Amino acid sequence: MQLIIMENAAQIGEAAGKLFVDAINKKPNIVLGLATGASPVPTYQYIYKAYERGEVSLRDVTTYNLDEYVGLPKSDKNSYYTFMHRELFDHTDICEENVHFLDGNAADAEAECARYDAALDKAGVDIQLLGVGRNGHIGFNEPSICFTRGAFKVKLTESTIEANSQYFDENPMPHYALTMGVGSIMKAKKIVMIATGAAKADAMAAMIKGEVTPVCPASILQFHHDVVVYMDKEAARLL
Ligand code: GLP
Repeated sequence: MQLIIMENAAQIGEAAGKLFVDAINKKPNIVLGLATGASPVPTYQYIYKAYERGEVSLRDVTTYNLDEYVGLPKSDKNSYYTFMHRELFDHTDICEENVHFLDGNAADAEAECARYDAALDKAGVDIQLLGVGRNGHIGFNEPSICFTRGAFKVKLTESTIEANSQYFDENPMPHYALTMGVGSIMKAKKIVMIATGAAKADAMAAMIKGEVTPVCPASILQFHHDVVVYMDKEAARLL
C-alpha cells in the first residue's frame, strides 16, 4: 500500500485528479470504478476542469459506480446517479451509454446484482476510486462476519445512516442499498482511496495497521498489489 499524507482535501483532489487525468490520457478507453460521497468531489472537480482546459477527454471512458440506494427515485438529489452527473459527468464529454450504475429500483435486486457483476467482469476495471466509511466500509460493504464477493442488497448500519442522513430532507434516507461486493472491488487493477477528516482516523488505523478482517472491510486492501491511499493529516492522525 502506498500511503500519501497531504495537507488538506484540496491538495488531495489535485494529486488524485492528476492521477486519473494521466491514466485517461494514457488509455482513453479506460474503465473506471467510481465512488460517491464528499471525499472524491475535489478529484472530480480537477478532472472536469482539466477537461474544460482541453487537457483530457472522457469520450471513450467507461465508468461503473460502486453503489446506489434502494427505492430512491433516480432523479432525487441524493441518488448516486444524480450525484455523479452533478459532480462530474455533466461537466464533461463522457457518453451516457458508457456510465453504469446498479439500479436501486430494480424489481428483482438479485437479478440486477448478477447483471452488474457480469458487466463488471466483462469490462474489467482499470482503476477503482474509493472513499471509506467511518466504520471502514467500502462501497456499502458494511462491517460483517465475512467478506462479500459480488454485488448484493445491503441493510445499512446505524453509523452509515447517521453519517449520510444529513444530506436528506425531502425523501427520507433509504435504509437499504445495492453495492458492488468486496470481491469485485479487489478485481480492479489499481485502487485509489481518499480519506479526509478526523472522522476517518479510526478507519485508517484499522485498515492499515489492523488485521485483515471483515469487521473492517477496507482492511482487505492490504491484500491488493496496487493501492494508493491519499489521506489528510487528520485522517492519518492515528498512524
Ligand atoms: C457512502 C458511500 C461510500 C463512501 C462513504 C464515505 O457511504 N457509499 O462509497 O466512501 O459514504 O463518504 P464521505 O466521502 O462523504 O465521507
